[in-house]
Amino acid sequence: MTLLLKDLLDKNKAWAARTEARTPGFFTRLRNQQSPQYLWIGCADSRVPASEIVDLLPGELFVHRNVANVVVHSDLNCLSVVQFAVDQLMVKHIIVVGHYGCGGVRAALHDTRVGLTDNWLRHVQDVRDRHTAWLKTLDGDEQRLDALCELNVLEQALNVCKTTVVQDAWIRGQGVVVHGWVYGLHDGLLKDLSITATGWSEVDTAYEKALSALRARYADTATKST
Ligand code: CO
Repeated sequence: MTLLLKDLLDKNKAWAARTEARTPGFFTRLRNQQSPQYLWIGCADSRVPASEIVDLLPGELFVHRNVANVVVHSDLNCLSVVQFAVDQLMVKHIIVVGHYGCGGVRAALHDTRVGLTDNWLRHVQDVRDRHTAWLKTLDGDEQRLDALCELNVLEQALNVCKTTVVQDAWIRGQGVVVHGWVYGLHDGLLKDLSITATGWSEVDTAYEKALSALRARYADTATKST
């Protein structure tokens, strides 16, 4: 369906009216404060709309999205979102959400040149290169892509744990839990990759356990398909 820009404004009016009719005073209450419990770090892909997938309302989910849900130690944009979410909003959970069939991850996997973005996707290629021996054992490009989408979530969740913001929060004793999920474009479902860390001492173990579970899942698939 092709929409004119004016259609978007009309749809917005209708949505605002519907929301207000369902919950009178909804927008007035949100005007002065937000108190989301969750920070979502996801892909910019239009098929992965954060709040909609988890059925949350405005005010309930703080969101940062970029191509291929990458968390880079020197990316002031992402770091600022994490800092604001943790220090000001006191979110309880930070969730890195990848998705299967990610175009950015696909380009990184196959060294496809897409332009300026190649430099950003270099971070995903670093993930690929770190796991290249294991990825080569998988059967077929689609399985390798699925696996790299998942590996990228684990690595980026690990990067969240290593930020000064999260480190400092843990040192203060502030309860922040880091998670990694992956979303299926084909069925609309989220899967927890079980890299769940509530403190620095858990990070290495959480990563290793999640990585082992990931590899075991793909080993199962390979066995079943042969
Ligand atoms: Co994507």
